[in-house]
Amino acid sequence: MISDNPDIAKSAMVIPPALETRIDRIIHEYRQQSKLKAHGLTHRRKILLIGPPGTGKTMTAKVLAHELRLPLHTIQVDRLVTKFMGETSAKLRQIFDLIQSKVGVYLFDEFDAIGGERSLENDVGEMRRVLNAFLQFIEQDASDSIIVAATNSPKLLDRALFRRFDDVMYYEPPTDEERRRLIENVLGTYLGSRFAWKQVIADSRDLSHAEIDQACRDAIKHMILSEKNAVTATDLLMTINEKNDAHRGSRR
Ligand SMILES: Nc1ncnc2c1ncn2[C@@H]1O[C@H](COP(=O)(O)OP(=O)(O)OP(=O)(O)O)[C@@H](O)[C@H]1O
Ligand SMILES: [Mg+2]
Repeated sequence: MISDNPDIAKSAMVIPPALETRIDRIIHEYRQQSKLKAHGLTHRRKILLIGPPGTGKTMTAKVLAHELRLPLHTIQVDRLVTKFMGETSAKLRQIFDLIQSKVGVYLFDEFDAIGGERSLENDVGEMRRVLNAFLQFIEQDASDSIIVAATNSPKLLDRALFRRFDDVMYYEPPTDEERRRLIENVLGTYLGSRFAWKQVIADSRDLSHAEIDQACRDAIKHMILSEKNAVTATDLLMTINEKNDAHRGSRR
């Protein structure tokens, strides 16, 4: 488990309004939890995030931790499962004990490693037991901590899992408008004037938020090292197309 105090504000996220509303609701219910408790209700705190790489799932856990002033504890589930094969359930119990005793945001990353309906290389019986243990732990958990499970592959998830969560949120690759907003956010005051948006938006259509974020940072570095004071569309198109090339390579 890795622990951290992230410093990422919600305003850095570029997500559809519906998703933002749901993140706001998690934050709001956490802050108003005593009001809810007085009526026998609990704040929403078991969250499942589903979506392709680099679209903001881990970032959401960081934003929740930051906005709620809670530590973020990350459990790399795929590593947990391979490292403690045979003892994974015991390990999970320890983690859920911690969730109970130390309030925080607990991110179960690569969650499909236990959510899997079947697994090829691992012992299927053992994975069943681990999944059942997890279902039980998450169902019984009545702590104040926020539990976030994140995965790329919803198809691997057992249907029994879904109803254990208060919220299931889907993340998507950025739309044209979202790519523009993301680039404006990351370039900030470095954004050049008379920027050729049309081409930039077209050429970035296959990239994730994370790749666009990196392309922007690469372009800023290039700008700094070449003693200029703004990033032009040409500069950004160069780093965007580097990402496109890397992308194509990974798909082969
Ligand atoms: N929706 C977003 N808005 C703004 N920036 C984003 C967004 N999604 C990703 N980023 C940027 O990309 C980085 C990596 O994204 P993140 O780790 O959240 O991806 P992920 O969805 O967890 O991917 P993976 O499935 O590979 O774990 C973030 O730290 C942030 O800088
Ligand atoms: Mg992630």
